[in-house]
Amino acid sequence: MKIRGRDFLTMREYSSKEIWQILKASKQLKKEASTGRFRPLLKNKSLAMIFQKPSTRTRVSFEVAMRQLGGSALYLSWNELQLGRGETVADTAQVLARYVDGIMARVFTHSDLEELARNADVPVVNGLSDLCHPVQILADLLTIWEKKGELKGLKLTYVGDGNNVCNSLLLGCAMMGVNISVACPERYKPDERFIGWAEEESKLSRATVEITSEPEQAARKADIVYTDVVVSMGQEAERAEREKVFLPKYRVSEDLFKSASKDAIFMHDLPAHRGEEVTNEVIDGPRSVVWDQAENRLHTTKGLLSLII
Ligand code: CP
Ligand code: NVA
Repeated sequence: MKIRGRDFLTMREYSSKEIWQILKASKQLKKEASTGRFRPLLKNKSLAMIFQKPSTRTRVSFEVAMRQLGGSALYLSWNELQLGRGETVADTAQVLARYVDGIMARVFTHSDLEELARNADVPVVNGLSDLCHPVQILADLLTIWEKKGELKGLKLTYVGDGNNVCNSLLLGCAMMGVNISVACPERYKPDERFIGWAEEESKLSRATVEITSEPEQAARKADIVYTDVVVSMGQEAERAEREKVFLPKYRVSEDLFKSASKDAIFMHDLPAHRGEEVTNEVIDGPRSVVWDQAENRLHTTKGLLSLII
């Protein structure tokens, strides 16, 4: 199947071979950009970006990506569109598809993305939903590949909430042959469907998938230690309860990081809540790669958009 025109909602729409194709295209575009070369692969193309939640990295990287590829991007806040006054997602999708060549959306409810995709005959990209964050994982995989020289056979340990980022990491790692171990509280496990997909994919890639509640055990011999916030966007009312469950056990501290392999790297999708899920010492330490990881959001977005639009 062709990549062009395909939605990117969970990453499950793609094979591991196609994810490699996106990563390789991203690496090439990154290399060209570093020498000042920008190919207008999306000349005169437009991307609509709908945001129902705040964003720094996703908003800026998609906008700059479109510009560097010779096209343009429109920032559309959900509440400033007629969506905020009750126009349906389906009607909005049909109209936007008459103007633009692709739609990226960051939404609370994943099914809104599916509804957008069903009704827009241009590709729809998930810029984060309550369920998953697949564009983040493209950048993560490129970063790991750059730092470690490979993906297959490495071990990534995710410590914290079994949230949208964790769901996508499970799937992305299993697809690409990265062994993944998730340490999260019993009540905050990743989504069952993503665990199932990861298990299916791991059979093909021969990766291992482990879900435990013990961070130290999970971090043992890890090549990558990854964490994300305790309180995701939209969960602010649960803060007190979550802090009680997660902290300090699921915080990546220097002590926990020591359980990982000697040359382990630290990753975080950002924004970080310093002192909560990670200490300053770790995120600012010599083995943290979070800024390179954030930079790679731009390069992988270019890789993805140049192939699907
Ligand atoms: N990691 C990420 O998606 O960051 P933003 O919320 O700033 O877009
Ligand atoms: N889990 C976080 C990720 C932010 C990029 C959230 O949903 O807020």
